[in-house]
Amino acid sequence: MSKVFILSVFFCFISLSHAKDSEIDLELGEEINEVCAGCHGEYGEGGKQGEYPRLAGLPAEYIAQQIKLFKEEKRKNIPMRPYANDRELPEEDIPSIAAFLSQIKLISQMPKFDENMSAYEKLLIAKKVFNIPRAEGEIDFGEKSYNRECKSCHGKKGMGKKNSDMPQLTGQYTEYMLKQLKQIAKGEREHDDDADFFAEMKTEEIQAIMAYLSVMDD
Ligand code: HEC
Ligand code: HEC
Repeated sequence: MSKVFILSVFFCFISLSHAKDSEIDLELGEEINEVCAGCHGEYGEGGKQGEYPRLAGLPAEYIAQQIKLFKEEKRKNIPMRPYANDRELPEEDIPSIAAFLSQIKLISQMPKFDENMSAYEKLLIAKKVFNIPRAEGEIDFGEKSYNRECKSCHGKKGMGKKNSDMPQLTGQYTEYMLKQLKQIAKGEREHDDDADFFAEMKTEEIQAIMAYLSVMDD
């Protein structure tokens, strides 16, 4: 047997076992989510006016990357610490919980109900209705600023980019984002080496962007 053959069998084995490690199991994701739901809500809708961010619909890559940052304590957060450690959430389970949260679709308006629907069915739908209240700030100024400074990464409608680490901002709690932007400005959280940019941005401009984003999901 040639060395090349042995080596390629060896690498093939490595890549197969790697593929198995990152297999996505949505049922496992749903099971893990029972723990996360304690803070982030049953449908990943977050809570307490954004003390707990929305996770539903964020790109799976972004969710997985943030969990890793919490694990390595590169993103420091006391409430998340016990849930991101290797015992509670082993590395190989991350793709499953990330995929589960990412595929949850929240709706921003109450739909017209079918007359034949039971009260319970209506309740289940109503639980997924989620709309960010209008944030203070000047919408037109926010729109211009957003399109100039943020759109290239966070997308035309603030919906982020699928299969990327660019999170959606539309539909995320205003208070949560303001808190993140403060951490970014202080260099406590990474954002594309943009700490100085956010530190220099005027409060009214940030607030205007928040106002614009808060009406994008109406
Ligand atoms: C005890 C409450 C609590 C529990 C339980 C919890 N989290 Fe969190 N999580 C938080 C808080 C608080 C934040 C916001 C951190 C911040 O302000 O920077 C957060 C942030 C996150 C973020 C970052 C979101 C973003 O938009 O950047 C992800 C991803 C996340 N949590 C995933 C999970 C997963 C997956 C689980 C279950 C395994 C979980 N969390 C369980 C409290 C919790
Ligand atoms: C060059 C690309 C890029 C640009 C431009 C950009 N962002 Fe981001 N943004 C990112 C990435 C990537 C992340 C995820 C950061 C990380 O790795 O933790 C992020 C994260 C965020 C978060 C945290 C979201 C969360 O769920 O925790 C907020 C808030 C945010 N950006 C706001 C803005 C605003 C407002 C602007 C415009 C003024 C902007 N960004 C411009 C790439 C960008």
